[in-house]
Amino acid sequence: MTWRADILTLFPEMFPGPLGLSLAGRGLREGLWSLFAHDIREHAKDRHRSVDDTPFGGGAGMVLRPDVVDAAIGVALAEAPARPVIYLTPRGRLLDQALVRELAAGSGAVLLCGRYEGVDQRVIEARGMLEISIGDYVLSGGELAALTLLDACVRLLPGVMGAAESAAEESHGAEGLLEYPHYTRPAEWAGRAVPEVLLSGHHAAIAAWRRAESEKVTKERRPDLWARHETSRGGAGAIAGHPAAA
Ligand code: ADE
Repeated sequence: MTWRADILTLFPEMFPGPLGLSLAGRGLREGLWSLFAHDIREHAKDRHRSVDDTPFGGGAGMVLRPDVVDAAIGVALAEAPARPVIYLTPRGRLLDQALVRELAAGSGAVLLCGRYEGVDQRVIEARGMLEISIGDYVLSGGELAALTLLDACVRLLPGVMGAAESAAEESHGAEGLLEYPHYTRPAEWAGRAVPEVLLSGHHAAIAAWRRAESEKVTKERRPDLWARHETSRGGAGAIAGHPAAA
């Protein structure tokens, strides 16, 4: 069965967007994964097709109604039930490569994109949603976050990327280190030479240099990743124990 993404959004025209191009787009056309964007508004209950309402307790903005969101989730899950329901929100757990790997290893996801102030808390709880943030900044909706999450997952699916090792060796790969710097021709450009060792043809020396560069840049730029790298010896699954991920 192919990895399936169902997006619940008020702007289905935003999909597949950039995921229809390049490697993800080719994978989509080849059936290596599939994407269905659903308009939440189709599940509105009244003749005005309203999906949101003012917040109880007052305050600015509008909140997506639980009954409308729940109906949309029900339809998406009916197609392929054994998938996590993800709500993209800056309140969520930060997306990282471990979580991406876990999601990519499953059978897909249902992705709820919020707009306005948010989604009624009751449907988040009732559906056991996994709340995910792509970073500590606020987007005007979950759609770009959903595209980001999907891009990160889809490139890990079998057959989507060309060389298997290009996924394993890059930044945030299995080792949790940032990537070493890359160089190509010309060997000298604008008075700047390529590091000698890369022209030496000594594979072991090149591997050692790259490893040292990876460690150096990780220590300098991301002491948090470096600390995790040093202490990491496996660990619990990123979404293990989450009911919807079973
Ligand atoms: N919706 C708005 N901002 C977001 C963020 N940073 N991550 C995920 N979803 C969002």
